[in-house]
Amino acid sequence: MKQIARRNFLLSSLKIGAVLPLISLPSTLFGVEKEENTTHLYQPGVRPDRVVLTVTEDPSTSVTVNWRTADTVAESHIEYNLDDAHPAFVSKVMRLKAQTRSFSYETIKAKNHRITLAGLLPGKLYTYRTGAENNWSEWMQFRTAEQNTSQSKISFIYLGDAQVGIRPLWSRVIRKAYAVNPEASLVIHAGDLVNRANKDDEWGDWFGAGAFIHGTIPVMVTPGNHEYIHEDGKPHLSVYWKEQFQLPQNGPQDPLLAGSCYFTDVQGVRFISLNTQMLEEAPSQDCIRQQVEWLHKVLKDNRQQWTCMVMHHPVFSTKKGRYNKQVRKYLKPIFEQYHVDLVMQGHDHAYARGMEKIDLTGGAAGKSGTMYVVSVSGSKMYETETMDWADIIAPDVQVYHKVSIDNETLSFNTYLATGELLDAFELVKRKGQPNRLISKKIN
Ligand SMILES: [Fe+2]
Repeated sequence: MKQIARRNFLLSSLKIGAVLPLISLPSTLFGVEKEENTTHLYQPGVRPDRVVLTVTEDPSTSVTVNWRTADTVAESHIEYNLDDAHPAFVSKVMRLKAQTRSFSYETIKAKNHRITLAGLLPGKLYTYRTGAENNWSEWMQFRTAEQNTSQSKISFIYLGDAQVGIRPLWSRVIRKAYAVNPEASLVIHAGDLVNRANKDDEWGDWFGAGAFIHGTIPVMVTPGNHEYIHEDGKPHLSVYWKEQFQLPQNGPQDPLLAGSCYFTDVQGVRFISLNTQMLEEAPSQDCIRQQVEWLHKVLKDNRQQWTCMVMHHPVFSTKKGRYNKQVRKYLKPIFEQYHVDLVMQGHDHAYARGMEKIDLTGGAAGKSGTMYVVSVSGSKMYETETMDWADIIAPDVQVYHKVSIDNETLSFNTYLATGELLDAFELVKRKGQPNRLISKKIN
């Protein structure tokens, strides 16, 4: 009853343009204790697991399939074709051998497999399975994106940090997100997918919670600080990251940025993943320079109608003292220069969004036309404060987002883990002016 009462309080208190009063709960890590006691629960078998689709540079004609098997499996394959309601399609499929690499970490010995299916038809439903004789996955389905046109039309899912309580409490969030948006073109994960970068159990939880959803809708993932370890005092990306997520290779040359800085164009939208850990904890100024110069180029060359950023550390935070100086210093002016529409972030373990109260960089006249969103999907909750930049701050709730774009209008819906609508707004394109923000009244 207490939770329901609090949820009702949240909903009834949400006033557009107002900051929610802070609910006096401590920062909490619900669901973490049990995970601390587990170790290597997810040994790989001869049948594929951890099947995940990743975005490519052109999701209208290609997709990358990633999966895992036991180390004893010498080779693995993919079979695929256009989907057909008649099950006889299984006798008319194409078969390709995967790229396979051995993976060994602590007691986990596995083979990681991947293959990029290219030359696909846009806007079509395909089916595929991975494995080898007698040990195949189920037939999975995915739909290729429509061909890029001058007018955008797309729907996608955005999730903030899963990180903590992944199996017990995050699973309900990603499943609700899929239920409300099963035709999403991609699922965006804005970093801190797990709590401990090299903890296999947590990756096993992440794959288990998403289950077939990971193998049905391509993911766009960006690393957070919890995808890094600091055993020697320096940040090192999780040994799992590049092994299980093959991502577009169109980023800066620095290997520290490979597999984390990249972009994909999907149905009139340019989605750009940035590595904010390599801004806040960059090992060299050159690493920062490369990411910044690359971002300038990717935005300058952008011919898509909409531009959406995916990154972990937020430009604007939900509590004083949590500002990320490097991110603010290097990225905010660039977002303003190129009129970035939407910045999807995590890290602060609360939901917040703001646009029109944010001043332009360097004292320039005018307000920001970029919408900044902070979000959380897992069970780790942080306290918030009243922040000048934010239109809305909602602490102590797990949320997910359905974002839809139809030509000149972007619709952004925020749902509670229970499925109730918490917040909604639209951004409308205007020639020569910042996007118009229309906040929706929630009953
Ligand atoms: Fe974080």
